[in-house]
Amino acid sequence: MVKADAQTVLVLSGPNLNLLGQRQPEIYGTDSLDDHMQRVVQTAQHLGLQIEIISAQGVAELVTAVHSARGRCAAIIINPGALTHFAWSLHDALASFAGPIVEVHLSNPATRETWRHESVVAPVASGSIAGFGADSYVFAVHAIATLLAKKK
Ligand code: DQA
Repeated sequence: MVKADAQTVLVLSGPNLNLLGQRQPEIYGTDSLDDHMQRVVQTAQHLGLQIEIISAQGVAELVTAVHSARGRCAAIIINPGALTHFAWSLHDALASFAGPIVEVHLSNPATRETWRHESVVAPVASGSIAGFGADSYVFAVHAIATLLAKKK
């Protein structure tokens, strides 16, 4: 049961993550984005957090979503997809957000092509979770709950 005054966590997923389950399952697994988000909501409920979910294909939508979270959401979980590696406007938007931010990846970009090794989001995130497949988003919810509890 989520409390009426529960803190809201915005969960953002970037381009092509809407194709999870169909897209390169050998890398990203067979669960759909909905499957991941169901586990996020269940985990958050267990931890007394409220979840808002946005899946966007473009950087402008993600930047707008981050702006809308300012002063309204307590924390952000974000998997920016390939935008992770070059979207400096997303970096700047996240830098304007006051609460904790956890960067999530299902795969481990550090073990993949070199262009995936840089994250422009990591410098403005509280921390990053990568390479845990179906558990990555769930671990991120636990990380956010821990960070928010420490702020209280
Ligand atoms: C990803 C990793 C990115 O490099 C890639 O472009 C994605 C998914 C992940 O969750 O592993 O789209 O963010």
